[in-house]
Amino acid sequence: MKLLIKNGTVVLPQGEKKLDVLIEDNKILSLDKNINENCKTIDASGKHVLPGLIDIHVHLREPGFEGKEDIQSGSKAAVAGGFTQVCCMPNTNPVCDNAVVVTYIKHREKEVNLCKIHPIGAITKGLEGQTLADIGKMVQAGAVAISDDGRGVMDSNIMRLGMEYASSFSVKCLCHCEDINLVNGGVVNEGYNSTLTGLKGSLRAAEDIMIARDIALAESLNLTVHICHVSTYSGVEIIRSAKARGVKVTAETCPHYFILTDDIITTFDTFTKVNPPVREEIDRQAIIKGLKDGTLDCIVTDHAPHSAKDKEVEYNLAAFGMSGIETSFALSYTYLVKSGILTLSELVNKMSKAPAEIVDIKGGEIFKGAVADLTIVDLNEKYLIDSKNFYSKGKNTPFNGYEVYGKVLYTIVDGEVKFGG
Ligand code: DOR
Ligand code: ZN
Ligand code: ZN
Repeated sequence: MKLLIKNGTVVLPQGEKKLDVLIEDNKILSLDKNINENCKTIDASGKHVLPGLIDIHVHLREPGFEGKEDIQSGSKAAVAGGFTQVCCMPNTNPVCDNAVVVTYIKHREKEVNLCKIHPIGAITKGLEGQTLADIGKMVQAGAVAISDDGRGVMDSNIMRLGMEYASSFSVKCLCHCEDINLVNGGVVNEGYNSTLTGLKGSLRAAEDIMIARDIALAESLNLTVHICHVSTYSGVEIIRSAKARGVKVTAETCPHYFILTDDIITTFDTFTKVNPPVREEIDRQAIIKGLKDGTLDCIVTDHAPHSAKDKEVEYNLAAFGMSGIETSFALSYTYLVKSGILTLSELVNKMSKAPAEIVDIKGGEIFKGAVADLTIVDLNEKYLIDSKNFYSKGKNTPFNGYEVYGKVLYTIVDGEVKFGG
């Protein structure tokens, strides 16, 4: 089967180029000017052709929390958001801490057949922070990384062992950096707005201490480490100086940390509740600077869908998390590229190639012979975010009503159109 994408602007590692893309089966057969072929054709005039977006931090909730999301709805949401590959966190029920759950997710990936799904195995059994999970067996079954995301691994020696096991199976540890004792029930950033609202705050230090610890472990052991959802200016600084010393650390952030500040919590809207919490302008500016100078390698969504009943409760009781996979590209394009902070190629790199490299999966670049995972977007199309249109079961976004640019028109996985058309 062939598929031709005509007249689009292709985003290549070297920059943007007007080229046609001819796909045969699951590969890019040719990339050239004026390709003519009698096959299914997509007219991409005035549109941009990007390498399929890759999100290495999502919560798909299956097995166990299908009321919030399942692999079908989460995959549909992913391709609607322009994502061709996602890595899903293990805080499911049962926890993905063994090869059986990894195999189940891989089975569901095939059954649903929309985006590629790479399971992330737990570091510790039951995410309890006590005993290492079956890391080797999970990797054998298809896990691409390990993480206890949703919780920090409080015991530093267990974290050390997790990193050493991860390294011996050639996968990375993705660290949710949170000192739970210091958080002590905090639900928002500790600062002016927590005082104003009376909501219990959580210090930047609760995140920074664990970022510093995990970097210290990686540095002492000469191993790699990846820091999840960086939200503090001081965390960015710790990572920047570690990188300058040559520590093998990579890091991610999410749209809510470079767009929002904790001024939004004064509405008491539980859709603003996320862990780590959105912080202050100084943090937002530092996250932007960290993205620009490469301290922060990639953008993820931390897509955390929740059902209405998990959020329609008082702020303290509401679940943490934002449904983000269907808004990430447009928000990132609008707030980082339209505003002149990153070039389109830089943004696309942070949402495709860079995350692929971190978990060592194929994809993220367009070239002749590459796997045909592509996303076609209209960068000029302006629209208002409306969670009523989400394919995700999670309607919990704080971005409703935001005006954004950058509409996903088609998502192509292995040469097949999985969204659009
Ligand atoms: O806000 C969050 N939601 N942060 C996490 O670390 C976990 C996630 C979830 O699973 O809902
Ligand atoms: Zn997390
Ligand atoms: Zn997460």
